[in-house]
Amino acid sequence: MLTKTKFTKNDKLVILTGAGISAESGVKTFRDSDGLWENHSVDEVATPEAFNRNPRLVWDFYTARFKQLQNVKPNPAHFAIKKLQDFLGENLTLITQNIDGLHQAAGNTNIIEMHGSIADSYCNKCRRRITTVELITNLDQGQSNKCTQPWWFSCEKCKGQFRPNIVWFGEIPHHLDKITRRIQQCTKFLVIGTSGTVYPAAQLLVLAKRFGADTIGVNLDRPENVSYIDEFHQGKSGKLLPFLVAEWTS
Ligand code: APR
Repeated sequence: MLTKTKFTKNDKLVILTGAGISAESGVKTFRDSDGLWENHSVDEVATPEAFNRNPRLVWDFYTARFKQLQNVKPNPAHFAIKKLQDFLGENLTLITQNIDGLHQAAGNTNIIEMHGSIADSYCNKCRRRITTVELITNLDQGQSNKCTQPWWFSCEKCKGQFRPNIVWFGEIPHHLDKITRRIQQCTKFLVIGTSGTVYPAAQLLVLAKRFGADTIGVNLDRPENVSYIDEFHQGKSGKLLPFLVAEWTS
């Protein structure tokens, strides 16, 4: 017996996931290599200032991430969450900080991507949306034509610049009103694979606890905000979650 928690179909569950849930799929987490992300500092590739300074570098970086993700598959932790959703239906809200689309690939719905998604891009002036795959196809064609102009990321309608739909440091996460409403109503809050160091995401656990939810955590290391977790399971989510979900729903 791993857990004292039991779910009923009337429970309203909010789940918050972070990079750790995708680690066993082969996606690197952010804070395990000297604060560098794939050999780049956050200031070089994950701020609006970095994009204004050097859009080419930022796009090269996200193009490489996008291409890497094409070969990545959901792991047992993503599928365990899908099982939990099959049990709870609409009563499960899945908030993710991840941009990798692996929850969708596992079949989950009702997902709030608070830090955006690498699958979409938008013009920073007129906000027109475009799929990242379309932009990257243009980029590849431009490079093979030895095109010297950065035409591939400029919006032909307004001459703004396309950027990935990713919430960078210093920007406000998406859907905060909806997230707050769901947390106010939830009876249980489950946090998986996140270091609890990036705000406001790290505050959501605290908020859930204040609104009276039972809080559960699954993480490889003890997250910064672990004191707000009622039932903490230390270990890999791909190993633990399939067993936990089976017990929670039995
Ligand atoms: N199972 C569970 N937890 C894991 C696993 C695993 N297999 N592997 C690693 N972890 C844990 C680590 O112990 C760590 O606490 O996942 C956490 C990953 O932390 P971060 O790399 O800081 O990722 P995250 O919390 O999602 O980052 C938040 O910061 O860089 C920004 O916007 C970016 O969304 C990201 C945000």
